[in-house]
Amino acid sequence: MRMVDLIEKKRDGKELSQEEINFIIEGYTNGSIPDYQMSAFQMAVFFQGMTPGETANFTMAMVKSGDQVDLSAIEGIKVDKHSTGGVGDTTTLVLAPLVAAVGVPVAKMSGRGLGHTGGTIDKLESVDGFHTEISDEQFYDLVNKNKVAVIGQSGNLTPADKKIYGLRDVTATVNSIPLIASSIMSKKIAAGADAICLDVKVGAGAFMKNLEDAKELARTMVEIGKNVGRKTMAVISDMNQPLGFAIGNALEVKEAIDTLKGHGPRDLHELCLTLGSHMVCLAEKADTPEAARAMLEEVIANGKALEKFKVFLAAQGGNASVVDQPEKLPTAKYTFEVKAKVDGTVSEIEADSIGTAAMLLGAGRATKESTIDLSVGLILHKKIGDNVKKGEPIVTIHSNSEENNEVIKRIYESYSITHEHVERPTLIYDEIK
Ligand code: URA
Ligand code: CA
Repeated sequence: MRMVDLIEKKRDGKELSQEEINFIIEGYTNGSIPDYQMSAFQMAVFFQGMTPGETANFTMAMVKSGDQVDLSAIEGIKVDKHSTGGVGDTTTLVLAPLVAAVGVPVAKMSGRGLGHTGGTIDKLESVDGFHTEISDEQFYDLVNKNKVAVIGQSGNLTPADKKIYGLRDVTATVNSIPLIASSIMSKKIAAGADAICLDVKVGAGAFMKNLEDAKELARTMVEIGKNVGRKTMAVISDMNQPLGFAIGNALEVKEAIDTLKGHGPRDLHELCLTLGSHMVCLAEKADTPEAARAMLEEVIANGKALEKFKVFLAAQGGNASVVDQPEKLPTAKYTFEVKAKVDGTVSEIEADSIGTAAMLLGAGRATKESTIDLSVGLILHKKIGDNVKKGEPIVTIHSNSEENNEVIKRIYESYSITHEHVERPTLIYDEIK
């Protein structure tokens, strides 16, 4: 087989066989296919797309390029949740203990990653003593015993995806739905999930800017899951503004605690109950999302979800008393209120630019080497559709620096305030099964 013939075949819109796709992924991973041929191939995919069969084969070839996690030592159906990414997305911190409290095993493998705030592990490290350096056996035992544990990423998962994603980044081929879908799904499948619940974000602060593209990405991922024998469903949710009020690490842990107590921000609460209901159904602990939702509401109301969070933190060395005394979480030295300059209604909160404001405070990593300040971040007091009076605080900055001019500038740039009537954005647009 010659790579040049396969590039030509895809360029002309023909379908590649499983054998041909395996040849491409294996060859690119082991270095026998050079970057320039892979670049040309990806550009051909960008314009011609891939059939559902090709996309599934492409995904599984990437899964097989490296280690695959075996979670068979854990009882029950392991459901993983994945969000396509947004600003201030605190859902994992809430969902892990919430669904575990109704018996769904949550075996979470998580990374640190780059972004406006840290990843799930960084956020959890705001809890004094909490760590994810546990052995695989400890991890399985903890999930069997408590139904929830988080372990740091280890092993060599999907090396093909790492190499391909790096190349896509510099060849203008990131934004191809079959390539995004196979990239995300390969990582979830290699991480050992039996079932996958996807949160596909749509809006100004997301990869997918419009609903049609978000639906197509969701359908493509659900189809991959079906084709390779993993139950998969997707919720399409709004990312036209940050989720919840908090953007930061310790601040989001506190927000998660509030949500587990039943008084979190309305949007975060609602999204967690929606995603959680589907996770419970995928794990076959309930027959309908309505029944699952009632179970989740019950464990919030009776305190079992909160109790589960304490057990989870303590089992991995964390000081669980922060759950009752969140003031023990890392706290920034200074707080500043950013005040509205005019009366009106909030019509826009540009998620990317407010995320950048949080990053400038030190909440996120700009490069792999950066360190994170767990205490800093932003609390939003006003969301889209809220009325504001001139002089009223719209955002509180939690900072370890006295000088925050750039941060303040970004916050003003991200907020738009109008005199016209503004509808609150829809939170959940669709569900794809
Ligand atoms: N996230 C991924 O993991 N892969 C993509 O291709 C895009 C977003
Ligand atoms: Ca949040």
